[in-house]
Amino acid sequence: MKGIILSGGKGTRLYPLTRVLSKQILPVYDKPMIYYPLSMFLLAGIKEILIISSMDHIEFYRNQLGTGEMLGISLTYKVQKEPRGLADAFIIGEEFIGDSDVALILGDNIFYGSNMSQFLDEAQRQISDVGGATVFGYYVRNPKPFGVVEFDKDGKVLSIEEKPENPKSNYIVPGLYFYDNRVVKFAQEVEPSARGEIEITSINQRYLELGELRVKRFGRGVAWFDAGTATGLLEASNFIAAIQNQQGFYIAAIEEIAYRKGFITKDQLMEIGKELSKSDYGRYLLEIAEEGLD
Ligand code: G1P
Repeated sequence: MKGIILSGGKGTRLYPLTRVLSKQILPVYDKPMIYYPLSMFLLAGIKEILIISSMDHIEFYRNQLGTGEMLGISLTYKVQKEPRGLADAFIIGEEFIGDSDVALILGDNIFYGSNMSQFLDEAQRQISDVGGATVFGYYVRNPKPFGVVEFDKDGKVLSIEEKPENPKSNYIVPGLYFYDNRVVKFAQEVEPSARGEIEITSINQRYLELGELRVKRFGRGVAWFDAGTATGLLEASNFIAAIQNQQGFYIAAIEEIAYRKGFITKDQLMEIGKELSKSDYGRYLLEIAEEGLD
């Protein structure tokens, strides 16, 4: 399975912070926002990743992350000329996707939970075994600004709507999606919504109509943040800081995950740690390398 990180958009919900800077390069506590979605793909074992951003911002990501070689993965980059909607990722990414299955994660979505690897493994297995789509449901107090999914009493999905005026449930669909290869064709067929975007929700509706949409509910033990607003950004930063400083384990230390997954060697991790050793982050990587794996 391949992965796409969508880091586009104008970040208008964060103005004036994002007048010049790209949203997904902004710090979430001690690392750039994009490290968090990237770490999800690393955890999932997805090693071929496309990063999509605007013409003005794509170089930020290329400079920050390079070819991916340092992480033992392959990173490629593509420009989205205009923010046309999330489903556009599959049109821009058509060549990259080829005949693979594909996961999409939004560059401003941050996930954390002890059982995250299981969710990721299960979603990938479902797609490779039976195809279709696997997305997630997450309970929030105010579902209105998101994609909202309605279940019947047996947990079967009844409907899915984008930013509904009258939400039918409190379960939103966060920005992490797993699809079989047909998603490319479906994206090309989607009609723009009232806000003029080709919506990811329309893709999910298509799979729902076919009876091939699975929605896995995250429990209360999972934390999810849309870091694309000032409040979301601060809350995510505070959350990451609290966990890291209390436990001593870093969240979304991409080099650590690459090492634990066997994508890079101890020596490679050591080298990166040395290069960054003036920061706590760098010293943490050095500690991990020195400890070695059990
Ligand atoms: C997008 C999706 C929405 C999803 C949300 C998650 O919203 O359209 O379905 O729930 O991301 O962050 P947008 O960020 O475009 O408002």
